[in-house]
Amino acid sequence: MNKTVLVTGGLGFIGSHTVLDLLANDYEVIIIDNLVNSHIEVLDHIATISGKKPLFFEADVRNEEVLNKIFKEYHIDAIIHFAGLKAVGESVKKPTLYYDVNINTTLALLKMMKKYNCHNIIFSSSATVYGESRELPFTENMNVGVGIKNPYGETKYINELLLKDFATSEDDMHVILLRYFNPIGAHKSGLLGEDPKDIPNNLMPYVLKVAVGELDHLTVFGDDYDTPDGTCIRDYIHVLDLAHGHVLALSKILGMKDKCEIYNLGTGKGSSVLEIVHAFNNVNHIKLPYVIGPRREGDAAMSFASIEKARKELGFEPIYTIEDACLDAFNFIKKHVGKE
Ligand code: NAD
Ligand code: UD1
Repeated sequence: MNKTVLVTGGLGFIGSHTVLDLLANDYEVIIIDNLVNSHIEVLDHIATISGKKPLFFEADVRNEEVLNKIFKEYHIDAIIHFAGLKAVGESVKKPTLYYDVNINTTLALLKMMKKYNCHNIIFSSSATVYGESRELPFTENMNVGVGIKNPYGETKYINELLLKDFATSEDDMHVILLRYFNPIGAHKSGLLGEDPKDIPNNLMPYVLKVAVGELDHLTVFGDDYDTPDGTCIRDYIHVLDLAHGHVLALSKILGMKDKCEIYNLGTGKGSSVLEIVHAFNNVNHIKLPYVIGPRREGDAAMSFASIEKARKELGFEPIYTIEDACLDAFNFIKKHVGKE
């Protein structure tokens, strides 16, 4: 029988791409999402691309009444927990909201796992937990949690602690923590991607708003870092590769003996801000207007992953380049601009 996966936040950017990959791999998918940062149309787009419509519950993951209903009716083999709030700037202004949503969603799911005998949960963590570590590349066994600069990052770290403690204390409970680096790109169809409602903080969504003329220019935050071109280096991973990492992690967790495993999901390669701008210009035949501005507070000069553990234990191998991601993201935003 096909395994059933509950995907929280399954209509969001990474969740929707993961749902498609799960459906392509014959998993039964149930989505719970309260649409706080996504649109119901994504469900139709998933159906158009995959030919399958997953079961969908429009609800907050903290709503235990709805969770009880789902867990009572369906046997859930595993949970992939994407739902949460992710805007770094907003988390500084509304810390209690971020702690509430990002921690209490997980607590509610853990309660259901115990009550209904669900043994597996995969959690969306972030490279942000490496904090002020400067030893590169980041490996999973490094110390984390020191020098995290905002409540969003703290909630990721606290979730990691919570999930590890849960797995240790309970018999036969399995946790995989996936630390994402910088997801970019979109689905090749142009139907799924990321289009934040407000002025974005992250590089690629900002580049896209400039590319379609919604913002006048990009400000590159500092060109005086100790890097080859002076701009910061990050590990940008195509969302399709990242999504596939979840399918591999799921296959691992369903037969896992260990209680908790952690995997970095990046490409293992860093690109500078200017390399992203040039790649974007080259593949899309445009010239993005940009200016060099001051450094952004809290930015590290470089962040990139070691993905050796994911390679060895999950068979994870990213296949897309930053050029693919720039092409796919622009294709999505051109089709999407002015809608929703
Ligand atoms: P997203 O905002 O596009 O997706 C999150 C989804 O969760 C949205 O559809 C939203 O409506 C839903 N949601 C939020 N709170 C909810 C709640 N209480 N109940 C039900 N649904 C809720 O974000 P994303 O980029 O797809 O990120 C997915 C996860 O990965 C998040 O936990 C995020 O923190 C984490 N992450 C993202 C990045 C990134 O750069 N995108 C990097 C590292 C980690
Ligand atoms: C940021 C957050 C991090 C969070 C991650 C994913 C900060 C300090 N860090 O990381 O906590 O986990 O997003 O949500 O907010 N850049 C520009 N101009 C822009 C936007 C970005 O030059 O308008 C540069 C940044 O300086 C950085 C790179 O582009 O060097 C990538 O930035 P971003 O997409 O915000 O990701 P992170 O800095 O990795």
